[in-house]
Amino acid sequence: AQKKVNAVIHSQEKLAEGIYSMWLDAPEMAKAAVPGQFIAVYTNDQSKLLPRPISICEADKENGRLRIVYRIAGAGTKEFSAYKEGDTLDIMGPLGNGFPLKKKKAFLIGGGIGIPPMLELAKNLDCEKTAVIGYRDKETFLADELRKYADVVIATEDGSVGTKGNVIDAIRAEKLTADIIYACGPTPMLKALKTYAMENGIECYISLEEKMACGIGACLGCVCHSKDIDEHSNVRNKRICKDGPVFRAEEVEL
Ligand code: FES
Repeated sequence: AQKKVNAVIHSQEKLAEGIYSMWLDAPEMAKAAVPGQFIAVYTNDQSKLLPRPISICEADKENGRLRIVYRIAGAGTKEFSAYKEGDTLDIMGPLGNGFPLKKKKAFLIGGGIGIPPMLELAKNLDCEKTAVIGYRDKETFLADELRKYADVVIATEDGSVGTKGNVIDAIRAEKLTADIIYACGPTPMLKALKTYAMENGIECYISLEEKMACGIGACLGCVCHSKDIDEHSNVRNKRICKDGPVFRAEEVEL
């Protein structure tokens, strides 16, 4: 079983409205982490007992640090955003399965707060790769950092940067192709990508991290239907935090 670690916050900065980047000193977790995994972050406010799952944006194995980039989505993440260098947080991880690293021409697709795991993935994938990332507006956090490791194509809902529309609109506008898709983001985006991948015969892995609430198997809020029937329980349900968060797109119902 994973144990809780009290980690010191190395630094924290605001990247965009409501979006924060935090580096935590956590040598063992940084060493073990693979792209697509997450950590469970506990609040210091004891009235909230369940942690918040937040995906790993970067793992600096040399310096023993983990980076998370998260959006303020409630009281827990609001509390995290107020902490400063030197404060501590209990964390657990790395959790989840992560993305399979294959040597195929790849799309790394992120929508909004699904973009952070694509940075560590881009660093670790040794292949031709294009990050296709979707935002609401011109606050294109992490885009410049992704450019160090991959070609970057941007879509914005309001058209202020890149293609106006969603990530699939950007893929079509730029006439991009790939043999494998790695994606993380809101469910409508993942649904559209699943259809796109199946129509075009592209291998596709999606992270359903957005649907997680606690990340540690305690809330049962993350159950999704899968094509595989579980031998023991005879049900087709999977818990995203225990069996995922990454699944083959055709394996899960969205
Ligand atoms: Fe709570 Fe999976 S996220 S049980």
